[in-house]
Amino acid sequence: MCGIVGLVGKKEVKVKDIVNGLQKLEYRGYDSAGIAFSQNNHIELIKTTGKIANLRKELNREIENDISIGIAHTRWATHGGVTDLNAHPHTDCTGKIALVHNGIIENFQELRKELIEKGHKFKSETDTEVIAHLVEEYYEGNLFEAVLKTIKRLEGAYAIGVIHTDEKRIVSVRKGSPLVVAYNEDYAVLASDITPIIKYTKDVYFMNDNEMAVLEPGKIEFYNINGEKIEKKSVHIDWDEQAAEKGGYDHFMLKEINEQPEALKAAITGRIKNGEPVISEINNIEEFIKNNLKKIFIVACGTSYHAGLTFKYFMNRYSKIDVDIEVASEFRYMNPHVDENTLVVAISQSGETIDTLEGIRIAKEKGAKVITISNVYGSTIPRESHGAIYMNTGPEIGVAATKTYTAQIAILYALGAKIIELTEGLNEEIRGILKGIEKMPEIYKEVLKLNEKIKELAREYVKYQHMMYIGRGFGYPTALEGALKLKEISYIHAAGYQAGELKHGPIALLDEQFPVFAIIPKDSLYEKMKSNLMESRARNANIIAITTKGNEEIKQLANEYIMVPETHEALYPLVMAPVIQLFSYNVAVLRKLDPDKPRNLAKSVTVE
Ligand code: F6R
Repeated sequence: MCGIVGLVGKKEVKVKDIVNGLQKLEYRGYDSAGIAFSQNNHIELIKTTGKIANLRKELNREIENDISIGIAHTRWATHGGVTDLNAHPHTDCTGKIALVHNGIIENFQELRKELIEKGHKFKSETDTEVIAHLVEEYYEGNLFEAVLKTIKRLEGAYAIGVIHTDEKRIVSVRKGSPLVVAYNEDYAVLASDITPIIKYTKDVYFMNDNEMAVLEPGKIEFYNINGEKIEKKSVHIDWDEQAAEKGGYDHFMLKEINEQPEALKAAITGRIKNGEPVISEINNIEEFIKNNLKKIFIVACGTSYHAGLTFKYFMNRYSKIDVDIEVASEFRYMNPHVDENTLVVAISQSGETIDTLEGIRIAKEKGAKVITISNVYGSTIPRESHGAIYMNTGPEIGVAATKTYTAQIAILYALGAKIIELTEGLNEEIRGILKGIEKMPEIYKEVLKLNEKIKELAREYVKYQHMMYIGRGFGYPTALEGALKLKEISYIHAAGYQAGELKHGPIALLDEQFPVFAIIPKDSLYEKMKSNLMESRARNANIIAITTKGNEEIKQLANEYIMVPETHEALYPLVMAPVIQLFSYNVAVLRKLDPDKPRNLAKSVTVE
C-alpha cells in the first residue's frame, strides 16, 4: 500500500509539481503524506498525518519553491501508527539521504537492531527507516552503489525512491510493489502508477521485480540487482490527464458509476461481436482449454470476488466444467486443489492485490494455467499470468469498485462463453446473453436515471444502523456486493445472505429497526424470493426491493421498490449493479462521508 512519486528536472521543478503528482496517488492510502527535496545542499523534509491537503497546508509558501529534485509519499500505515514521525519520506542520521518506500520490509527488526548497535539513531517506528540507514551505512560517494548493497540486505516487498543531497539523481528499485518510471527531454519521473506521469510523457517503463532505475533529468538507466545495465522497452499509454479527473461530478465514485455505459462498452469492444465471444487474450491457451481443461478455479478478493461468484453461477448453469471459487486470502493457505488440468481465473481491478498475486503464484507452481482480468495495464498479477484481459475502463479513482465490477462481470461472461465454445459448443441462450451485454450500455442509461428515486430511498433509510441484503441464484452475489458497498462507504453495518438461509439464523435479527434490501428480479427463483419477503415482513422489517419493471405485485410485498428493465436472468447482476452502488453512494453523502476515500481502506491492497 502507499503511493510514491519522484521528480528530477533539468529545468526547475516546483514543490507543487511533486505534490500535484502525489495527489493523483492519494487513492493508494491517505493517512499521512510527506515530501523531501534537496535545497542548498540539505534535505528539506515536510510530513504530516492526514490527507495530502494537510501536507499542502503544512508546506504553505514553500509549495512555490523552485527545486531540482524531490520525492513524496502518501501512506497507508502498516508498521507504526499514524504519526508525523512515521510518515514518509525517511532520512538517515546525516540528513543527506531521503527515501520513500511502498511495501513491507520483513526483516526490519534484525536490521534495526544491527544498525542501532552501530550507532544509528532511529526517529520512527517504521520498517522503512532501516533502508535509509542502510544506504547511509553503504554510501561512499555513489548512491547507486549504496542502494545496490542495501537491497541485498532486504527481505520483503518494496518500491523505493532514494535521493542524496550530493547527487542530482533518484535511485529506484522494485521488488513486489508497483513502480513505473519515465522521462522526457527535461525531466525524469517515478510513481506507483502512471497517473502522475502522463503529464510528462505517455511512454512509460513498467519496472519488474529486481530491476533498478537511475533517474536523471532527461534520461533513465536500467540495471539488474547485480548492477549490470539492462535494456527496457517503453509502453505507450493512451490515457490523458483529464481521464483521471472528476469530470464535473461531486465525487469520483459518482462519476465512475455514471461512466458505466461507456466503460462497459470499452470492456466488451472486440470481445463480444453479435453474440459471439472473441477473447484473443487466451489464444495461447486455447489448445489447453480444448484438450486438458477439467476445472476452473476463481481467485479474487472483495468486489472482484463477487464478480467471480456471479461467473461461477454462469458457468454452473451453462457448462459441465467443474468450477470452484475462493477468496484469495484463503486460497493461498488452503492447499487448493489445482493442477495442470486447472484454469485459474484471477480477478483484480488493481492487478496488485497481494493475496491474489500469491494465489496465482501457488497455482502456477502446481501447474495450473492462469488468466487474469485487471484494469491496470502492466500491473503485477496480469504480468505474471499466462494471459491477461484488461478491462479498458479507464482509471478508477474512487476506492469503492464500481465500473470495474460491472466490466469484470461482462468480461467474465465473454470468457466463460469462449471456454464453453472451445469445450462443449455455444448454444443460442448463451449467444442471447452476450447480445444482452452488447445492449447493456443503452440499458444503463435508463438505469442511471433512477438516481432521483434512489436518493429518496437513501433519505428514508439513512437513519438505520443495519441492513440485510438478500438474494437467490444470480441475485446472491449482487446481495453480497450491495452489503459490501454500503458498509465500506457509509459505515452502516450490512450483511448479504442467500435468502434461503434467513430461516437458519439471520431472520432472528429482523425487526422494525433492521431493514431488508431484497434483490428480487422476475426470474426462475422469483416465487421463492417472494416467500422470503413475506417472512421478513412478518417480522416487521421494512423492505426495499429491486425488481423487474412491470412487477405490480411488489407493491404488496415491499415498503419501497425500484424497478429495472427486464433482461435475461443471468444479466440482472449487471442491470442491478448501478442501483446498489447509487444507494450506497447517496447514503454515504447524506451521512456527510467522503465516498471516494472510505476510512481504513485503499484502492490497491498490497499487504496481507
Ligand atoms: C470494494 C473494493 C474491494 C476490492 C478488493 C480487491 O469496493 O474495491 O473489495 O474489490 O480489495 O481488489 P482488486 O480487485 O484490486 O484485487
